Amino acid sequence: MARFPDALNEQIAYEFAASQQYIAIAAHYDQESLQQLAAAFYRQAVEERNHAMMIVQFLLDSDNPVVIPGVEAPRTDFGSASEPVALALEQEKRVTDQIVALVALAREEGDLVGEQFLHWFLQEQREEVSSMAHLLATVERAGDNLLMVEEYLARTGEEENPLEAGAPPAAGGAL
Ligand SMILES: [Fe+2]
Ligand SMILES: [Fe+2]
Repeated sequence: MARFPDALNEQIAYEFAASQQYIAIAAHYDQESLQQLAAAFYRQAVEERNHAMMIVQFLLDSDNPVVIPGVEAPRTDFGSASEPVALALEQEKRVTDQIVALVALAREEGDLVGEQFLHWFLQEQREEVSSMAHLLATVERAGDNLLMVEEYLARTGEEENPLEAGAPPAAGGAL
């Protein structure tokens, strides 16, 4: 019995949990009137939701069962201004490990179609760990003055993700 489809179903829960965590972080910054930080995490939440729906689409396409899971509750209280971003970076690194384990499992089971599907996710994780590490460095440098981060984000704006064009299809369409 192949374990890969079950492992992909588990990954759906991790992607939705990541999405919920980013909504929690966005709401936290929104409450502090840090609009740019809030917007960045609201956007990130949608991306994670799309990742989950890409896996759903892959399971549908490969004639495997799809089980939409419940998710672990996000953290909603934060001790310092930089803590949410540190948590986000930790989360991206954890997801990278999860994707790597999925690729290894697909390879072990000779599921080359599944492995190829995940190659995009490997690139995406590289990008997300990188951008979150940069954001954390920026927030830590700003210290108590998060308005500097707000200005920085307003100036750099919404970054184009070059990986978007080659993204796998998402069930129901990507948002
Ligand atoms: Fe993701
Ligand atoms: Fe992510």
